[in-house]
Amino acid sequence: MNLKQLKNSLFLAPMRGVNCAAFRVMSKEYGCDVTSTPMIITDDLISDSSKVISRLNLNKTEKPVSIQLIGNKNGAESVSLIEDHADIIDINLGCPDKKFLGLKYGSYLLSNLPMMEKFVSSIVGASNKPVTAKIRLGFNDNNSLIVSKKLEDLGVNAITVHGRTTKQGYTGVSDINAIKKVKENVNIPIIANGDVFKPGNAKSLLEKTGCNGVMIGRGVMGNPFLFSEVKYLLENGKNTTKSVDKKTDAIKFTKYYEKYDYNVSFTEYRQHIMWFSKNLLNAAIIKDRILRVKTFEKVNEIINSDIFR
Ligand SMILES: Cc1cc2nc3c(=O)[nH]c(=O)nc-3n(C[C@H](O)[C@H](O)[C@H](O)COP(=O)(O)O)c2cc1C
Repeated sequence: MNLKQLKNSLFLAPMRGVNCAAFRVMSKEYGCDVTSTPMIITDDLISDSSKVISRLNLNKTEKPVSIQLIGNKNGAESVSLIEDHADIIDINLGCPDKKFLGLKYGSYLLSNLPMMEKFVSSIVGASNKPVTAKIRLGFNDNNSLIVSKKLEDLGVNAITVHGRTTKQGYTGVSDINAIKKVKENVNIPIIANGDVFKPGNAKSLLEKTGCNGVMIGRGVMGNPFLFSEVKYLLENGKNTTKSVDKKTDAIKFTKYYEKYDYNVSFTEYRQHIMWFSKNLLNAAIIKDRILRVKTFEKVNEIINSDIFR
């Protein structure tokens, strides 16, 4: 995949507990250009690669797919185990989860540049596939210009920037201006990330930053149709009048989950169906009923009942 050609490209954000194969396939179908797996811990990959890879349920329909690695060692070995399955290898330098920070993974590396350099160069050096990195603006303070330049020098092919620091978590707003500065600071493609919940958010993020693509996370949970709305707006300059029926989407998701994710957990499936029902008239009743059931069949009964509207 040639990342230099990215223009107004739509990326599915890597999301742990969300990006099962069914969700990636649906995102692709609705216009997402590059899907992503959730992060994979390099140590897990080394200790049991076939288990880790089989749980991803990678399939041709979702391609091109980015596989994201998180860790601080075993970079080259991880690449050798995963690269045949990936169109892009992404490095997680943005995770703010305390457990991972404690292990010195994710956005911890934004505060330890020698360690970041070692991990990133081990991956870049071993990979025959394009390598991208996903960063926050910094750990406590914004050091994204230093980090992005360093990543470019290390041979990373593109960078995704979420416009918040680790310290911020999800508070405040994603800083569009800071993302723009990163874009102006390097010569590799930049993908803007943060707070896209409506088609107009994506358009203005692209226009204001000059970035090559936009990555969407929370906005597509239970609403992968947002990709289609964004694509339409970017191509036609106006909003689409089409809408999607959430019941139809929940049924389609179920069909895909049965097809691709048969070996993944029931609770993950059930959670997706709750996201699909979030803004429905009977959302509270649906949630209450779904939380009481324990089988795919029972969730299906709820989706197909009159309550699911
Ligand atoms: C449930 C959830 C899981 C996430 N898992 C990951 C992950 O595995 N790797 C990663 O780099 N970021 C992860 N993120 C962060 C998102 O990729 C994204 O950067 C962040 O949510 C900001 O984008 P948004 O405003 O479009 O949601 C996760 C976010 C959420 C909400």
